[in-house]
Amino acid sequence: MGREINTVGVVGLGTMGAGIVEVFARNGLSVVAVEIDAQALERGRANLAGSTDRAVAKGKLSPQDRDALVGRVDFQVGLAALHSVDFVIEAVPEHLDLKQQIFAELDRVCPPHAILATNTSSLSVTEISVATHRPHQVIGVHFFNPAPVMKLVEIIKTVVTTPEVVADVEAMCARLGKADVTINDRAGFIANALLFGYLNHAVTMFEGRYATREDIDAAMKLGCGLPMGPLALMDLIGLDTAYEILDTMYRRGGRDRRHAPNPLLKQMVTAGLLGRKSGRGFYTYEKPGSPVVVDAAAAVEGEASLERPITTVGVVGSGTMASGIIEVFAKAGYEVLSVTRGAEKSARVCETVKTSLNKGVVRGKLSEADRDQTVGRITWSTNLDHLADVDLVVEAVVEELSVKKALFASLDEICKPGVVLATTTSSLPVIECAMATQRPADVIGLHFFNPAQIMPLVEIVSTIRTSATTRATAKSVIAKLGKTGVGCADRAGFIVNALLFPYLNDAVKMLEASYATADDIDAAMKLGCGYPMGPFELLDVVGLDVSLAIQRELYLELREPGFSPAPLLEHLVTAGYLGRKTGRGFRDHTHR
Ligand SMILES: NC(=O)c1ccc[n+]([C@@H]2O[C@H](COP(=O)([O-])OP(=O)(O)OC[C@H]3O[C@@H](n4cnc5c(N)ncnc54)[C@H](O)[C@@H]3O)[C@@H](O)[C@H]2O)c1
Repeated sequence: MGREINTVGVVGLGTMGAGIVEVFARNGLSVVAVEIDAQALERGRANLAGSTDRAVAKGKLSPQDRDALVGRVDFQVGLAALHSVDFVIEAVPEHLDLKQQIFAELDRVCPPHAILATNTSSLSVTEISVATHRPHQVIGVHFFNPAPVMKLVEIIKTVVTTPEVVADVEAMCARLGKADVTINDRAGFIANALLFGYLNHAVTMFEGRYATREDIDAAMKLGCGLPMGPLALMDLIGLDTAYEILDTMYRRGGRDRRHAPNPLLKQMVTAGLLGRKSGRGFYTYEKPGSPVVVDAAAAVEGEASLERPITTVGVVGSGTMASGIIEVFAKAGYEVLSVTRGAEKSARVCETVKTSLNKGVVRGKLSEADRDQTVGRITWSTNLDHLADVDLVVEAVVEELSVKKALFASLDEICKPGVVLATTTSSLPVIECAMATQRPADVIGLHFFNPAQIMPLVEIVSTIRTSATTRATAKSVIAKLGKTGVGCADRAGFIVNALLFPYLNDAVKMLEASYATADDIDAAMKLGCGYPMGPFELLDVVGLDVSLAIQRELYLELREPGFSPAPLLEHLVTAGYLGRKTGRGFRDHTHR
């Protein structure tokens, strides 16, 4: 028979604590909410009021339920108020000495049966537990931000936490409507261990002016379907908290350089730019705590005057990407000239485009007349010489440098002056294509995502030789396609793949180390971070061979030891387990 948890305590009512109070009170538990002084207590009360008022405004909570919820919370200054709770969770800043001090005090104040929990993101629960005389009753209960929204809770047991305590906490999480994963005490647990290397890398991209904050964030939202971009997420987490988490993970997690906090973070924290909670971080907000950004990106003046008019577009290639790109341009009103290596290939691409357009008609997204006009705008050819008069060429041939270079050399001879020459490569250096021509200033990368008809993102990759005119023209064309173009420099993986694949590779390494199962890791990222797919689901869809090739490319270019491909990934590829396309990858798809 487990213990009854009816009254709970929450210590620290900041970003996380206030949300955790809301979760408990919303599910009928009595909460003693504790802060360090009267001012912080008022701030905590305001945090809870702000969140519940927003829920009422959105129609997700009735005013009566809000009042009942707030009525279940007893706001107090000082830990002494926790004398009769059954369970207490601490959510004070991420410093070990502070947490140990609080646990020693909780041990004195709370009843002997009470479970003492920490919401730490990265510190050792074991080290926190030994500050008490009841380490077997100490446990990590890691909620995700925002606590009322995210479904996941990571439950961290130490080597001495008793099974009964784990069972009681698991039962409590179920009562709160949360899904849980129970894991051992390791830096960053599942989700943060996979998340923070990625977040830090995004800060490094921003700091190195590799891309703007808007473009980095848009790339990950639109390219991967994430609920927020990494810099906006950093602002939500709080830059001081993020700094501490990275710092602890660096020290506890094997000194992986990717966790060494980017120096910009420290500077921002020192300057009081803590993210949303202070009203300014990577973005500036209406007021502290508000999600409304007030410093939207300014348009680059004079860019429009640089762009060249584009009416005809040549697309070279006959694969999945080429057919998607042909369709996208033709739909947007451009005259498209498709060039393939043979009449049969042209016929196949033509069929693919027509089938795809017909699907649009069946779904009511496209009229029959529009479909016919779109098809009418496409001309089919097998001769590159026909590209002599187009304004833009988009190349989507096989991902082999020698083939692409030869093609660019031919385009250089065939195309008229002033044409924008674009490559859709996802992993080769764009500058190599540019230098195969006598006009490197006119060459740019346009990295479409698959399926091009659907994915709203295009990475616009400028080399050190790309001219402002070429860039402005490319940006304007992508906007006319109804896509979001994000600009970046010519480095392996551009924005999306450089941020995505190391994270996937890390997930494989975590599985390989037997820290958690593929199911738990997938659940952690989906339910804790709002990802549309877990890393193993995504790897099986993308293809393990493709993923390994991209990861190798990143490793070779950046020489970052943490990017070395996971041996398990290599072995699966060698074994022919490539994902859905072969019926088996991380999971067996033949019986599903
Ligand atoms: N921010 C996130 O996204 C996130 C997510 C999951 C877990 N966490 C973890 O939750 C914990 C809290 O982080 P946060 O982001 O909410 O920090 P925060 O800075 O927003 O809030 C911390 C609160 O603790 C209060 N506090 C400080 N000393 C105290 C004391 N002695 N007694 C009572 N209250 C005290 C502060 O006044 C403040 O309100 C950290 O361990 C963090 O790693 C954070």
